[in-house]
Amino acid sequence: MYILKYAIITGASRGLGASAAQKMVSEGIHVITVSRSENNSLKQAAEQSGAGYTHHSCDLSSEDQVLSVFAAIADDVFKKAEAVYVINNAGIIEPIDVAGELDASLVQKNIQVNLTAPILISNLFLQKAKEADSKVVIANVTSGAGERPIQGWSIYCSTKAAVNMFTMTAGLELKNSESSSKVIAFSPGLMDTDMQMTIRSSSEESFADVDTFRNYKESGSLRSPDTVAEALVNLVLDNDLENGRIYKVNDLL
Ligand SMILES: NC(=O)c1ccc[n+]([C@@H]2O[C@H](COP(=O)([O-])OP(=O)(O)OC[C@H]3O[C@@H](n4cnc5c(N)ncnc54)[C@H](OP(=O)(O)O)[C@@H]3O)[C@@H](O)[C@H]2O)c1
Repeated sequence: MYILKYAIITGASRGLGASAAQKMVSEGIHVITVSRSENNSLKQAAEQSGAGYTHHSCDLSSEDQVLSVFAAIADDVFKKAEAVYVINNAGIIEPIDVAGELDASLVQKNIQVNLTAPILISNLFLQKAKEADSKVVIANVTSGAGERPIQGWSIYCSTKAAVNMFTMTAGLELKNSESSSKVIAFSPGLMDTDMQMTIRSSSEESFADVDTFRNYKESGSLRSPDTVAEALVNLVLDNDLENGRIYKVNDLL
């Protein structure tokens, strides 16, 4: 029997999100992307494959935009789909600076994109899945930076740590209520994306480890987002996910 599947992926215009969307398309899954800009090669690939593709332009730092765009997506997919996957992938690293030198508006934006948006989206999709007597699998993309302090990254470390705790708590709640929905986190490791370019371009005063990160690129230590996306998508499509668990790419490759 043909099962209609939808994957909603934030930040699929480039980096890990674009690779994950591409992989979902190759699995024949209808992909819904959400970001400020659209990835035209992904659009073309999806149209050629016939898998189905929709893009929503949305600034995830705006609570109003997040709530209206995702309510419309949820209303649409739960009417039709038998399987719904959400990958909260979009993320930003800035502000890169030591506490005491942080830009207030960049602090707010980072918290909204990295933390508030994934929480609001998870909350909405869990609610709509329940109302539709359906289920959803949500993967929140986190970072090793959520588990240890890194000088100059206090906001990024904090938002990723909070994403981990939200995931573990929501996962516990779903398990205790015997829900068939799942919430997990995925830690992708170091990848060769625009985010790493931003990191390498910071100054030593703002980011003490900048040389180490420049060396990661020079020595070829950054993984390709395609490799990581394959592990992520295979994980999300797995029927045997452990609710609330933080999965690490190194354990999956
Ligand atoms: N790269 C690494 O080494 C690394 C390591 C650990 C964890 N991660 C995590 O992996 C995830 C993906 O990172 P990446 O390296 O692929 O990042 P990236 O290449 O910088 O791409 C970031 C994506 O997020 C979207 N985004 C940023 N701000 C947004 C906003 N205000 N509204 C909507 N979308 C927004 C961007 O789309 P638009 O600009 O089109 O809006 C883009 O598609 C992130 O959660 C990151 O924290 C990355």
